[in-house]
Amino acid sequence: MLRVKGTHDWIDLTQFNMVVDHAKRYFSLYNFQEIATPLIEPVELFQRSLGAATDVISKEMFLLVPRNHDDQLCLRPEGTASVVRAFIENNIQMTPWKVFTWGPMFRYERPQKGRCRQFHQISMEIIGAQNIAHDAQLIMMLDRYFHEQLKLNNYALVLNFLGCAQDRVQYKERLQKFLQTLGQQALCAQCVDRQHKNILRIFDCKNETCQQLYTKAPHTADFLCTECDQEWVQLKNELEQLSISFAYRPTLVRGLDYYTKTVFEFVSDDLGAQNAFCGGGRYDHLVKELGGKQDQPSLGAAIGIERLLIALEAKQDGVLYGQRAALHLIIPLSTAQKSLALMLADMLRAHNLTVDVMLDGDSLKSMMRQANKMGALYALLLGPEEQEQNSVTIKHMVTGKEERVPQITAAEYLKK
Ligand code: HAM
Repeated sequence: MLRVKGTHDWIDLTQFNMVVDHAKRYFSLYNFQEIATPLIEPVELFQRSLGAATDVISKEMFLLVPRNHDDQLCLRPEGTASVVRAFIENNIQMTPWKVFTWGPMFRYERPQKGRCRQFHQISMEIIGAQNIAHDAQLIMMLDRYFHEQLKLNNYALVLNFLGCAQDRVQYKERLQKFLQTLGQQALCAQCVDRQHKNILRIFDCKNETCQQLYTKAPHTADFLCTECDQEWVQLKNELEQLSISFAYRPTLVRGLDYYTKTVFEFVSDDLGAQNAFCGGGRYDHLVKELGGKQDQPSLGAAIGIERLLIALEAKQDGVLYGQRAALHLIIPLSTAQKSLALMLADMLRAHNLTVDVMLDGDSLKSMMRQANKMGALYALLLGPEEQEQNSVTIKHMVTGKEERVPQITAAEYLKK
């Protein structure tokens, strides 16, 4: 039996947990609270928020068929819609509501490097956040998290400004005219389809000829009303003052329909074709669109954990952060010392040391070989003599240094 295509068995979660733990600690400094929402949601939640013509809805949903066929359920493809639903359903009054969550997402995409059918995101949302300085602060938090917390430097921030709903109406008309001047034969079939169904999506086309043509397309940021234009200028100024470098990317529209104004991605060349390891932006109308009493200007972002780990691995030349805690391996030399070994382990763990006991070995030689394989930093040998003297022989597995110490002071010795 094989695992499902595009999914992973996580045999070693050290790095995964490290990025999640760092995020939990660091995001809390910005006053974000951790929440969790269900993995299954009504299909309608995503149809209404992401847009029926997006790839996620039209091609990539994992639909569930419950026995009574009454509910149309799915595995969540992303987290924002669920957080907004939770905000409305739990009648949250306190805004800005700053929350983060992490866990698996599901999209039926063609698997390749950095693209999975079950992947994991750390996502954060700020619901009820009017001023565009929130956007600068969110981007700062992410940039500092990648650069200072995870020591990543092989990445860039790309940024665009989509404007408000009215700006977009005007812009779409201009884009339509631009495409008409190119003529349908100039575009790939998918772009012709998108031109009619969801015109902004043309910019997501992977075809190089189309991309070349779109370098001359009008920019969303050139069709902003006075207020949006001021916000766009404010955002760029704030990022500059915070020393956050970014590249303006006029073709960045992001693949989900709920975005307004700011959109951004953190990208890395080390990722190949799927180069974004984090993406986000503003969604000022989503709360109302999903049934909230009034609009709540909001914003957020999501980090793709699998892609972040690829970028981290590439950058650190195989030296990864957050290595496992040092292993202290107790080796009872015969059955008579096994219960003593369990008691000693119990005592050492009370001092927060990571301890395992080798309960199945035979000869000392083979047990030491096994200790090496397990990556133990110390081997703690308990034979009849040690038992007699209430001592333990501690061997450093790297230096080979060996010392016999009283069991009672073993923790102190190991912590030195
Ligand atoms: P998204 O751009 O669809 O945005 O996904 C965010 C990140 O999740 C991507 O940049 C990527 O790193 C990762 N990701 C997406 N699809 C896959 C996949 N198939 N395999 C591996 N990684 C993947 C959202 O999901 C929005 N909810 C982000 C957001 C939050 N916007 C506002 N608030």
